[in-house]
Amino acid sequence: MRKSFVAGNWKMNTDVNSGVKLAEGVVSGCNDLAGKIDIAVCPPFVYLQQVGKALQTSHIALGSQDIYFEQKGAFTGEISASMLKDVGCTYAICGHSERRHVIGETDDLINKKVQAAITGGILPIFCVGELLDERKANKTAEVVTRQMKKGLAGLTEEKMAAVTVAYEPVWAIGTGLTATPQQAQEVHALIRKLLAEMFDRKIADTIRIQYGGSVKPDNARELMNQEDVDGLLVGGASLKADDFVAIVKASV
Ligand code: 13P
Repeated sequence: MRKSFVAGNWKMNTDVNSGVKLAEGVVSGCNDLAGKIDIAVCPPFVYLQQVGKALQTSHIALGSQDIYFEQKGAFTGEISASMLKDVGCTYAICGHSERRHVIGETDDLINKKVQAAITGGILPIFCVGELLDERKANKTAEVVTRQMKKGLAGLTEEKMAAVTVAYEPVWAIGTGLTATPQQAQEVHALIRKLLAEMFDRKIADTIRIQYGGSVKPDNARELMNQEDVDGLLVGGASLKADDFVAIVKASV
């Protein structure tokens, strides 16, 4: 019912040549999957255009790793939704844990970004997830609930339909420590329940919830086998075309 959606978040990696080569590898590896699964790659801002060219004739979508909420003007260093649209982006990651915890983004700022993305015609991949200390203190549900309620505050049902939610437990990101399929399913089910409470059953049933955090070719399938895991947001393993393609294929 929900079409699987796998996205690669390249983070602050690649250069022009390696980024284009990586995109070409993903295109050729996923050539035969058109219509079966949604796929996106999210390179650094400065490589969006060249990577976008490499994706042009394919069914692979382009996404950015961030977005700013203002439309234009004196916001040095920031990138607006219309700029992202202009270079061919379909998606923008909003509120990634590295932006929350390294750069210091707040729930309120992330909410503005999600709103601005949708208004500007960009589909947000809205990220939530708890820190290790929060999990240890049994605060996972509390933290994820707060992030969901504040991050998606003020969205209408119609706008919400544009959103993909990504659950990325911070302790699993880049650590090789993947959440077990059961741990992922538990939080994904909570997120779906929250979507039903905050919006309605239809939204809860149709919104895709990705899992992210040390996803690899050998754990992708069992994560995807969980009822409420509808896709994957892949960091490190998306930097190797073969690994990313294997993850995509395991998710169809
Ligand atoms: P890793 O796959 O490298 O753990 O990163 C996950 C992530 O943060 C994707 O957005």
